[in-house]
Amino acid sequence: MDIKAIRGMNDILPREAARWRLVEDTARRIFSLYGFSELRPPVMERTELFLRGIGDDTDVVEKQMYTFTDKGGDSVTLRPEATACVLRSVIEHGLLNADPVQKLYSIGPMFRYERPQKGRYRQFHQINAERLGEDGPFADAETLALAYDLASAVLGRDALLMEVNSLGCKACRPGFKGALEEFLASKQDVLCGDCMRRMHTNPLRVLDCKVESCRQAVQGAPSMEAYLCDACRGHFDGVLKGLHVFGVRFERNPRLVRGLDYYTRTTFEITAVGLGSQNAVAGGGRYDDLLSILGGPPVGGIGFAFGMERLIMLMGEVQDRVSGCFVVAQADPAVELAALGLIAELRAAGIPAEAAFGRSFKAQMRRADRAGYPLCAIIGEEELASGTLTVRDMQSASQAKITRSGVIQEITSMLAENKGERA
Ligand code: HAM
Repeated sequence: MDIKAIRGMNDILPREAARWRLVEDTARRIFSLYGFSELRPPVMERTELFLRGIGDDTDVVEKQMYTFTDKGGDSVTLRPEATACVLRSVIEHGLLNADPVQKLYSIGPMFRYERPQKGRYRQFHQINAERLGEDGPFADAETLALAYDLASAVLGRDALLMEVNSLGCKACRPGFKGALEEFLASKQDVLCGDCMRRMHTNPLRVLDCKVESCRQAVQGAPSMEAYLCDACRGHFDGVLKGLHVFGVRFERNPRLVRGLDYYTRTTFEITAVGLGSQNAVAGGGRYDDLLSILGGPPVGGIGFAFGMERLIMLMGEVQDRVSGCFVVAQADPAVELAALGLIAELRAAGIPAEAAFGRSFKAQMRRADRAGYPLCAIIGEEELASGTLTVRDMQSASQAKITRSGVIQEITSMLAENKGERA
């Protein structure tokens, strides 16, 4: 077949699934430790949501959205991120009326039309968190600690770097923007085309440009830190104190800006060693104006998202451990029927069971081995007549006869023993 997957959109094959599950399970476990609940928005939204929510001058809105007109004539977009979607849902369902503090997580695919490379795809998956209704610095510190715990649980503390910054607020950022614009005006000859335009519309974007000449040009740029108002400075100090209490290892990076426009005050990124240029595994920050921009109440929030592909690339091999019992039957209709009954009984007792009837004894054993079952129950005419089963431990190749009537008990304890040995 010459139809292939769309460039930048990947299949997750069975051999990779164990890692995906481990990351998801770890995330769910940590979210529940922090009191977060799951919200699952749809993968497609009205385009206007992202235009309003993410900002016109961002790469995401300018270049990367999968936008099309549906058959009803509406402009819709495959979500490039989850924050705007989660906030839209919170507003639409009045969740803040029921509880003025919302802590929500979402896991799923996002879509950005980017140039695919290692760690950068057109369909990718995010683990996303949003926390609404708490304005104090300790809410920020705790949210960053949550992201840090998640990254540490998957990759280990030594593999990552958390960088933290404050982008100020509506009151103090204009002063910084002005100073930055002035600085950038002196670098016009080396800035890329996008940055030449953005230095007037949104100069902070220039600090985030990946083009080498722009990166060089912003080396001596002013930093937000010097322009923070007293309230933002106090908030940032509180965040840093909270991070120390939570035991988070971080660095301050006064140059850190984010690719999306909605951030105010605390912003952060987690990068990983070994990922090359696409080394951000997570990013996020506070957004005090976004909910009201989207038509909700004037309530602030903070959140983050992890790129799952990047986490998974960095993890070691994770073996999918098969538990349960493969049933091998002699090629005889009466024996095979008895084997069918056995499989049904095993499954009803919660023991995974599989078979491959209609093949030679050898082929069935091979299949059991390949699938990784720790135990094999063998049933032939002799076992059928005597009300017994032969159970084979696939690793040691030792065999034992057990009674058919005691099969569930026997296999349960053999599996428990087997698990103990492997642990
Ligand atoms: P973001 O920085 O655009 O933030 O994306 C977060 C993470 O998603 C990145 O650090 C990266 O790991 C992953 N990612 C982004 N684009 C791609 C791609 N094309 N291929 C693979 N991975 C990618 C946000 O999306 C914000 N909504 C985060 C947030 C939530 N802020 C507040 N709440």
